[in-house]
Amino acid sequence: MKLANRIEQLPPYLFVEISKKINEKRAQGIDVITFAIGDPDLPTPDRILDVLHAASDEPANHRYPESEGLPELRQAVADWYGSRFGVTLDRDTEVLPLIGAKEGIGHMALCLIDPGDIALVPDPAYPVYSIGTMFAGGETHWLPLEEENGWLPDLGAIPEDVARKAKVIWVNYPNNPTGAVADIGFYNELVAFAKKYDIAVCHDAPYSEIAYDGYRPVSLLEAKDAMDVGIEFHSLSKSYNMTGWRVGMAVGNAGLINALMRVKSNLDSGIPQAVQLMAIEALRGSQDCVAENVAVYQRRRDKLVAALTKIGMSVVPPQASLYVWARIPEGYTSADYAAKLIEEAAVVVTPGSGYGKYGEGYVRLSLTLPDDQVEEGARRIAELAS
Ligand SMILES: Cc1ncc(COP(=O)(O)O)c(C=O)c1O
Repeated sequence: MKLANRIEQLPPYLFVEISKKINEKRAQGIDVITFAIGDPDLPTPDRILDVLHAASDEPANHRYPESEGLPELRQAVADWYGSRFGVTLDRDTEVLPLIGAKEGIGHMALCLIDPGDIALVPDPAYPVYSIGTMFAGGETHWLPLEEENGWLPDLGAIPEDVARKAKVIWVNYPNNPTGAVADIGFYNELVAFAKKYDIAVCHDAPYSEIAYDGYRPVSLLEAKDAMDVGIEFHSLSKSYNMTGWRVGMAVGNAGLINALMRVKSNLDSGIPQAVQLMAIEALRGSQDCVAENVAVYQRRRDKLVAALTKIGMSVVPPQASLYVWARIPEGYTSADYAAKLIEEAAVVVTPGSGYGKYGEGYVRLSLTLPDDQVEEGARRIAELAS
């Protein structure tokens, strides 16, 4: 049996490989500390679980949901965007609930890319932007993100012929893996660029609520004319510790939302209705739980940054996101350094090169593990360095 070429072209999913390594070590009885995946260790808040418990007894929630989501959920999303970002959205045309942001991002490529089309994708980046492009038969033109540019793409460096052929530009702030943030000036420039070349802007923003020291990330949709060309992907995964429930949303330009809805309605049957009710509760109820999460991550960030700095690693404390992005010591590739940490210290970090060639020289450490493990992990890294 011959599989499709797109399967042959797929690189192994980074975290599947890392999980395999962790399982091997644990099977040998080794106490592994993992800073790898950004999956909150904190539980979903009780007020959200209470809704699930009640909803599970209701037969209406045992049936197929509607692909486009409950109107009450779309309204809750619109209201949340209004209060959080001052952005007005029409729940019927500008909001689409998703089975997590990842699914929406992957399917978006099918809306924008025909075979041979170009997508502008940052490097380093969450892999799904370029994989979705490949699945749709398109080509990725990489936009280097570098420390000296604050990990923002240099739009002026995109060759004119590439910009003319491109169909979409992907961006993600607060950024995974670098922890960088973008301000409204950047989004204004991005929208102006997209309008000039008549391309879509897809902004992936699942970390907008995980920000430190009082910093408040902005939405792409706050930028001038963003609704003409932009769509923003968002998620309840990180803000409300709901990675396992799979719920997120796309918001923005009505034409883009409608295209995504048409793709999705042919491929999936929507979010389980009980989970949609959880999402309504998450967005409409008290937001204290988000502030409590952020306080926990900020404490862990401070511990980890202090420990890594102490051993001479160059680390900028992230203003947002769940990640510390650390420059590795000279003389290693990021894959070699990550391998050394797991082999010699049973500490798992993600090599920056797993996010693209411009991630080389860095490793990513996630803050989603208990404080005592953050301390123990930092201690082991320090011991190895000494
Ligand atoms: C940048 C980025 N986008 C999207 C996602 C996926 O989020 P969700 O759980 O909503 O699918 C992640 C998850 O880690 C992410 O880091």
